[in-house]
Amino acid sequence: MGFRNAAKAESIHALFMQRRYHIAMNRRLLLQSLAGAGLSRAASGEPFPWGIASGDPWPDGVVLWTRAAAAGEVRWEVAEDEAFSKVVKRGAMRADPAIGHAIHAEVRGLRPARWYWYRFIVAAGASESGRTKTAPAAGDRTQRLRIAYISCQKYEDGYFTALSHLAAEDVDLVLHLGDYIYEGACGKNKIRPHPYPTATTLADYRQRYELYKSDAALRKLHARFPFAVVPDDHEVADDYAGLIPDWDSPADVFPQRRRDAYQAYWENMPLRGPGPRGLEMPMFRTLEFGDLADVHMLDTRQYRTDQPCGGKKAKNCPERERPERTMLGTGQQSWLEGKLTRGARWNVLAQQVILATLDLDPGPDESYPMDKWDGSPAGRDRLLNYIQARRISNPVVLTGDNHNNWVFDLRTRGGETVATEFVGTSVTSNMDGAEVSEEYGSALGAPHIKWHNSQRGYVLCELKPKTWTTHFRVVPYVTRPGSPVITKASFVIEAGRAGAVRT
Ligand SMILES: [Fe+2]
Repeated sequence: MGFRNAAKAESIHALFMQRRYHIAMNRRLLLQSLAGAGLSRAASGEPFPWGIASGDPWPDGVVLWTRAAAAGEVRWEVAEDEAFSKVVKRGAMRADPAIGHAIHAEVRGLRPARWYWYRFIVAAGASESGRTKTAPAAGDRTQRLRIAYISCQKYEDGYFTALSHLAAEDVDLVLHLGDYIYEGACGKNKIRPHPYPTATTLADYRQRYELYKSDAALRKLHARFPFAVVPDDHEVADDYAGLIPDWDSPADVFPQRRRDAYQAYWENMPLRGPGPRGLEMPMFRTLEFGDLADVHMLDTRQYRTDQPCGGKKAKNCPERERPERTMLGTGQQSWLEGKLTRGARWNVLAQQVILATLDLDPGPDESYPMDKWDGSPAGRDRLLNYIQARRISNPVVLTGDNHNNWVFDLRTRGGETVATEFVGTSVTSNMDGAEVSEEYGSALGAPHIKWHNSQRGYVLCELKPKTWTTHFRVVPYVTRPGSPVITKASFVIEAGRAGAVRT
């Protein structure tokens, strides 16, 4: 080897060593970021590293959820007191690796409208204890119900400070209206990067829930209140419709991808059975709270028709007005029609995407967000016309997805306000936010829009027989920890009169 060749070999070797160094450093950085998150919890030695939760309260019980670190028997206990001196129910289930060691214990035989404490136990130790509350008895003349709702907690966009503040509130139930996780790969300039490629397999989705559930504020909130959850698109893939992927998955593999995503959702949520069945997972259901409220948890992803006019935000086109277009599907629509006539004072429609119309193109042109009910106006007409024709008692729509707060009058095409919609902002998605949304601010000015705000936070609702009060709670920043929380605006609906009034 001549001198020149030796020098060349040396420099190639140096380059090679440099690359190895960078690869090693990148791996170390990656492992460090994982060490603060999901991976370290798996290796923590804790018997229930992903926390505990309860959900879907009925008058006689709730579902208790956890995931054990290992296979084997998991016992659970429900007590009337925080010290577990009066245990009223006990049971045991096997943690099965086929479903990620998830436990869904459907407890029956509890008393209505009261707080209980619960915990899980394995040979290696007990979980922390959680608090949950049963619903009032059927027909009970319930005087008050407090519901909070949240959506869109993108881990990489910031800190779940809103969830810490919500844990300190006094509510009976928390609704999670979707985007519990985000499936995407690591974004640019993020606060807490997703250290993985886009989730497409069961293993990927499971890893995503483990990252999200490494957040202590989220685990604490679950332990404090019962939840009722429904997924939106990002639990699977951005803007999917039924079995049709929007853009980042080949159509032939998407059904299996959705099945894996639903499987991971089921494994990680406090949902009652049966869980996924084949490609489907039935999730629409009603929770009843005495004579005061029926909370209808809707699924606007699984049974909808594909977004028209090219999807996303688009100019109006004839496809949008086709009469067969739907967000709920025929089965869910007729199920909901039956439920709405039961006669509770307030009919809460808890669902994913904005129901009110938003024309984003002021002036004679029309442009709509096609992923929302605006993409299926025939489906919206069916629902609002039914509410109008049957004089459904006090319908109030609670919505997630949009990363903005909104208050809308919901009007039929004839112009009558027949219901009210409160859209809740994100926990962190789109980072700190602003007073007015850059994406949707152009719609402001339409008479059915009562209020708008684009900061992060959660929404509190207090239901009484004669009034409904909503408080929009906002955290001014999420890209740094420790934000305070403020009440940005409050609205009241009087029973018998659709439409919210600012207080
Ligand atoms: Fe979202």
